[in-house]
Amino acid sequence: MKLQIINGPNLNLLGTREKNIYGDQKFDSYFVDLKAKYKDLELSFFQSNIEGEIIDKIQETGFDYDGIIINAAAYTHTSVGIGDAIRSVTTPVVEVHISNTYSREEFRHKSFLSAHVRGVILGFGFKSYDLAIESFLD
Ligand code: DQA
Repeated sequence: MKLQIINGPNLNLLGTREKNIYGDQKFDSYFVDLKAKYKDLELSFFQSNIEGEIIDKIQETGFDYDGIIINAAAYTHTSVGIGDAIRSVTTPVVEVHISNTYSREEFRHKSFLSAHVRGVILGFGFKSYDLAIESFLD
């Protein structure tokens, strides 16, 4: 099974950025753990701070991968383009967030992705990604 993880803007700073919210682990080291845990899966990881690159990656993987797990970070709350890209592909998409966006500022309560994804997992720290992977295994 081929799964693509896509992380959006500022998530390259995980481990350094707002540790009280996002924890102190870098995503790269977590991804090593994830690959070890799910040895039988083909897991790919892509991060970009650029909206168009995220859209390109959804289009590139969205017709032959078995699943996409996306944390669009701040673009979640602003991007019609990423929402449209998700609607345009055939691969099922799961939206994840590290933090519980509903317990934070009101502007984080709106997602331009949620209506177009198979499901949303949020608030479980990095474990949100494990849970998203599990959702593809059933
Ligand atoms: C986030 C939540 C977003 O509101 C925020 O802009 C992020 C990270 C999360 O994973 O909790 O950058 O997507």
